[in-house]
Amino acid sequence: MTDFRPEAKVRVSHLRLSDFRNHADLALDFSGRSVVLVGQNGVGKTNVLEALSLLAPGRGFRRATLAEMARLGTGGFSVLAEVEGAFGAVRIGTGSVPGEPGRRVLVDGEPQKGSERLSDHLRLIWLIPAMDGLFIGSAGDRRRFLDRLVLAVDPAHGRRVSAYEQAVASRNRLLETRDADMAWLDAIETEIATTGVAVAAARRETVHCLTRLIETRPDGDGAFPRATVQLAGDVDTALDEAPAADVEDWLRADLRAGRSRDRAAGRTLVGAHRSDLSVRHAEKNMPASASSTGEQKALLTGLVLAQAALVTELTGSPPVLLLDEVAAHLDARRRRALVDLIAALGVQAFMTGTDAAPFEGFSGEAEIIVIPDVPAPNSGEF
Ligand SMILES: Nc1ncnc2c1ncn2[C@@H]1O[C@H](COP(=O)(O)OP(=O)(O)OP(=O)(O)O)[C@@H](O)[C@H]1O
Ligand SMILES: [Mg+2]
Repeated sequence: MTDFRPEAKVRVSHLRLSDFRNHADLALDFSGRSVVLVGQNGVGKTNVLEALSLLAPGRGFRRATLAEMARLGTGGFSVLAEVEGAFGAVRIGTGSVPGEPGRRVLVDGEPQKGSERLSDHLRLIWLIPAMDGLFIGSAGDRRRFLDRLVLAVDPAHGRRVSAYEQAVASRNRLLETRDADMAWLDAIETEIATTGVAVAAARRETVHCLTRLIETRPDGDGAFPRATVQLAGDVDTALDEAPAADVEDWLRADLRAGRSRDRAAGRTLVGAHRSDLSVRHAEKNMPASASSTGEQKALLTGLVLAQAALVTELTGSPPVLLLDEVAAHLDARRRRALVDLIAALGVQAFMTGTDAAPFEGFSGEAEIIVIPDVPAPNSGEF
């Protein structure tokens, strides 16, 4: 491994999947340009992107279990990639082994304790069709979206969020038990207040930076409308008005005073798990949820591109983008603008489509890789 070289390009140059979803053994070499994976429905294009999404902390973009990702009839899988990044060339990989809980993570052949180290070499940002309804869907989905944005610039955020969620779950369980140990409840509420304010503060910082970038970065001549993003929630509002230490005190006191309220509700009614990300179409001053399908996709794409710029700015290395079926809702003007913005960001983007036509604008800037059709298990000659 060589020294850190800020501003270095980050490129996936090789990917090998073994027993991952429908791919028994698939090896792909990439030139370093952006990549368009083309093939018929069901050949496994999204699966290739999902495999790449596992080269980051978390469960990948489908949030599937390890067993679901292993090819049917096998017990485990592996995903290996060569990445040219800020530290030179590195081989990173992940996978599962039958009978072993958790996933394995390897960096240059060395087993890693967790998946956080992957972020040293590769930061991934994705946009997938399941996110199309983000603005009209649940607050929980928007929180998860935001937490992934935070995670891309701050790898410790994942641990912070799970510590917080565990503390809230413990409190809910404890409130259900008769004669709950009050000292224990006090301790858990202190933990909720500390980690909850840390989670909210990290989200707040990312939203601030994102807002600054959205205001200043190119928007493809209006192809990707600027979004106004804001956090909405009790802890978020409190952080607007008071220092973090005071908000922690307030939250702890509120949790304590709200025990019987929360016992009756069966859940904790205050805290960072109740926050929402409010997104508006800035120019039209319209909630994103009231915008057209294409406008929502363009707003979301704009947010994801701004996030890519933010990761580059804060870490010194550009992320890799996974854009599944990104052309689907974009008109020709927006597709053209997307090509230009990806080029301006200097990122490698992995995209998918059933045919190459919508990606013609990429000409020299992307390579087209055809994923061959795999015969159905019981097809063949009689
Ligand atoms: N664990 C698994 N083992 C074997 N095959 C699987 C597994 N999980 C999913 N598949 C299969 O993988 C195939 C490819 O899925 P994928 O979503 O990647 O297709 P795609 O090329 O993106 O298609 P589309 O153009 O429709 O989006 C599906 O037909 C699915 O049944
Ligand atoms: Mg697909």
